[in-house]
Amino acid sequence: MTDDTGVLHRDGAGPVADFLASFGGDVDAAIAALRAHHGGTPTASPAPRRPRRERSGDHIIAVTDLRKTYRMGRQRVAALGGVSLEIDRGEFVALTGASGSGKSTLLQIIGGLDKASGGTVLIDGVDIGRLGDAKLSRFRNRTIGFVFQFFYLQPFLRLVTNTEVPGMFARTPRKQRKAQALRLIDEVGLSDRSRHLPREMSGGQMQRAAIARALLNQPAVLLADEPTGNLDSAAGASIIELFERIRDEFGTTIVIVTHDDELAQRADRTIRLSDGLIVPSGVVA
Ligand SMILES: Nc1ncnc2c1ncn2[C@@H]1O[C@H](COP(=O)(O)OP(=O)(O)O)[C@@H](O)[C@H]1O
Ligand SMILES: [Mg+2]
Repeated sequence: MTDDTGVLHRDGAGPVADFLASFGGDVDAAIAALRAHHGGTPTASPAPRRPRRERSGDHIIAVTDLRKTYRMGRQRVAALGGVSLEIDRGEFVALTGASGSGKSTLLQIIGGLDKASGGTVLIDGVDIGRLGDAKLSRFRNRTIGFVFQFFYLQPFLRLVTNTEVPGMFARTPRKQRKAQALRLIDEVGLSDRSRHLPREMSGGQMQRAAIARALLNQPAVLLADEPTGNLDSAAGASIIELFERIRDEFGTTIVIVTHDDELAQRADRTIRLSDGLIVPSGVVA
C-alpha cells in the first residue's frame, strides 16, 4: 500500500500511520500531541460531507447568547453569562478583562475545544455546537489555528516536523506539507532554525514556531490565548507585529486574549469581558 506521495507502508498507510511514525510509534506521545493541538482524535476514515452552512452575513464568527456553567460538585460557576458578538472576516480582535472574567472559556468554545451550556457559535456559517466529535475535529483542523501561552511544541520534534503536524491530520501529502511548513517557518522569521528542537530556541522563537504550525492548514481563524504571556515585552511586541502581518498577508481573522492593554490597543478592536459578560464599549471596567 502506498500513500499520496508513493511511499510504501507496511500496514495502515495514511495520516495516522505517518503521525505515529513521526513519534517513533509511541501511541501515548501521539495522543498527547493530538490533545494539545486539536483536542480530538485522528481519523483515517473517508472525508465526511461538508457541514451545513447557515447565513451569518459577512461575519466569520457570530456568537449569540453564549453561556457556560461549570459544575464543581454542588457548586456552579457561571463563567459566561450570555455573550453575543460578531467578528468580521480579516479582523484582528483583542479580548481583554481581569483574570477569571471568562476570556479563556470564550476562546475555547469559539474554537470548539469546549462545549457551551447554551447559545450558539457560528464559524464561517457552521453552527459548531451541532457538529459531532469527528466532524468537529475535522472542522477545527481545517478552519481554526490555535496558539497558547506555553507553545505546546513537541520537545522531541524538529521545528519543521512540529510545524507539519496539522498537515498530517489533514492528510496533506508529505512533500506538500513540508514545503508549506518551510514557507511558514520563513514567514515567521525562523528559516535558519528549521532543524532545531524547541529547547534550542528562545521563548519568542518557540511562539513563532507555534504560530507557523497553527497556520499550516491555512485556517480562516487564528485564536491565541495569552500568546505573549510568557514573553518579555520586546518579544511580545514582535509577536503582535507578526499577527498584524498575518492578517494583512493572508486575510486571517485573529482573536487574541491578552492582559496587556498596550498590546491590545494595536488590534483593530478590543472586546472587554467582566464576570462573564461583555462590557459595552465606552464603559470603563
Ligand atoms: N474547568 C473549569 N472548572 C470549573 N471552573 C472553571 C473551569 N475553567 C474556568 N473556570 C472558572 O470560570 C471562570 C472563567 O475562567 P476563565 O475563562 O479561565 O477566565 P480568564 O481566562 O478570563 O482568566 C473563573 O471563575 C474560573 O474559575
Ligand atoms: Mg485565561
